[in-house]
Amino acid sequence: MSVNKIIKRVTTTAIKEMKARGEKISMLTGYDYTMARALDEGGVDVILVGDSAANVVAGYETTLPITLDNMIYHAASVSRGTQRALVLADLPFGTYQGSTERAYDAAVRMMKEANVHAIKLEGGVEIIANIKQIIHAGIPVCGHLGLTPQSINQFGTFAVRAKEEAEAAKLKQDALALQEAGCFAIVLEKIPAALAKEVSESLQIPTIGIGAGSHCDGQVLVVNDMLGLTKDFKPKFLRQYLNLFEDISKATAQYVADVKSADYPNANEQY
Ligand code: KIV
Repeated sequence: MSVNKIIKRVTTTAIKEMKARGEKISMLTGYDYTMARALDEGGVDVILVGDSAANVVAGYETTLPITLDNMIYHAASVSRGTQRALVLADLPFGTYQGSTERAYDAAVRMMKEANVHAIKLEGGVEIIANIKQIIHAGIPVCGHLGLTPQSINQFGTFAVRAKEEAEAAKLKQDALALQEAGCFAIVLEKIPAALAKEVSESLQIPTIGIGAGSHCDGQVLVVNDMLGLTKDFKPKFLRQYLNLFEDISKATAQYVADVKSADYPNANEQY
């Protein structure tokens, strides 16, 4: 007799409850169906369809070139691969910083066409009206502060943000504004651990850190980095669990050798 296991989906409410009871939240990025299935089976709470797809999937230097259509394609693929994880998708650069109507339309397209559960936007008070409009439509929004890669041309560097008092004060103000606007969580990227601790303790909604220390309510990593697929990228905050780039290169070399030597396919590997 087969017993069908009922898998309960992680919701934005469940994410907020995790903070309330002191349970850390796990998030990884994902960009395709097959990886999403593996991450979901591994029990990750949230799969972020990050615009880092521009870097690790498409090979661009920054996240700026990726389009809404590209992001919807990745997000829909991830959605089809998950049963349990909450699927959160980035809106790409240029789709939500302008008019409120355009931001709203982009968010609605992402929800309708990719079947995700929430969206993430980079920025604070400057985009708060657009965030409120999206939330009013019933779309859960996750904020993103600190190193916001869509602003790399303003920053000029991927170095740690908010080390100076003025930028730290602005970040704290932005975090409160995002909470008041109704965001369900905030990603804090590459800021001092002490600042992330202060922000996390001051908010009711969870913070998810990347390079922001151990006091955040959860952690996120780019899956390609964490699996060792991204060659020669080892920032201090990264814990690399596998070395897949090397494993794949080795497996490829073995396959090539097997084909060249006519070892593959053998008698059991043909019809
Ligand atoms: O796009 C992305 O992968 C992200 C994470 C770095 C948080 O926004």
